[in-house]
Amino acid sequence: MTKLIWKPGTMIYPIPAVLVTCGDSIENYNIITIAWTGTVCTDPAMTYISLRPERHSYGIIERTGEFVINLTTEALVKATDYCGIKSGRNVNKFLEMKLTPEPASKIKAPLIGESPVNIECQVEQIMKLGSHHMFLAKVLAVNVDDAYMDNKNKFHLDASNPICYSHGQYYGLKKSLGGFGFSVAKKKKGSRK
Ligand SMILES: Cc1cc2nc3c(=O)[nH]c(=O)nc-3n(C[C@H](O)[C@H](O)[C@H](O)COP(=O)(O)O)c2cc1C
Repeated sequence: MTKLIWKPGTMIYPIPAVLVTCGDSIENYNIITIAWTGTVCTDPAMTYISLRPERHSYGIIERTGEFVINLTTEALVKATDYCGIKSGRNVNKFLEMKLTPEPASKIKAPLIGESPVNIECQVEQIMKLGSHHMFLAKVLAVNVDDAYMDNKNKFHLDASNPICYSHGQYYGLKKSLGGFGFSVAKKKKGSRK
């Protein structure tokens, strides 16, 4: 295999593209699409988003110290792209994309009703890294759509048709290739595999 060596860059793909909501009153609610996000700690549950300071959302999140990460689905892919192209300085993205702001349980920033999972976050630290500033945040609450719960109280995120973002393209995730630990799981009695 021959490898080409590129200059340093961001090539960790696929990744989530999430809709981050912010604002503390209906007049200043905004939505921004974010790909630079992820989990940084399980307990306490912590996450981050990295924002360019020129984003309209930057000032709102810096001032309020709060945001919500709303997971995206195939039904939300157009809104995901739109909220990553248009600025809240010029348009009301909730109205344009017909998305429903709903109250969060712990913070003033709104949830997106149409998203299956909404993660309420409180900013702990802003790290000024360079092009992007990283907002390290504590998760205060997670809201899940009960339509994806089964009668054994198991949540089926896959049933919401989640999407991911890879090198400039949005993709659906149709096929499971195995569950956590499948590579070492013991075969069931009577199974031919
Ligand atoms: C798929 C995708 C991912 C993006 N990820 C980020 C990101 O991680 N950080 C960022 O600052 N901007 C990101 N952007 C750009 C912002 O979403 C975009 O500039 C948006 O219009 C800013 O909105 P605002 O001015 O209302 O805050 C992304 C855009 C797209 C389409």
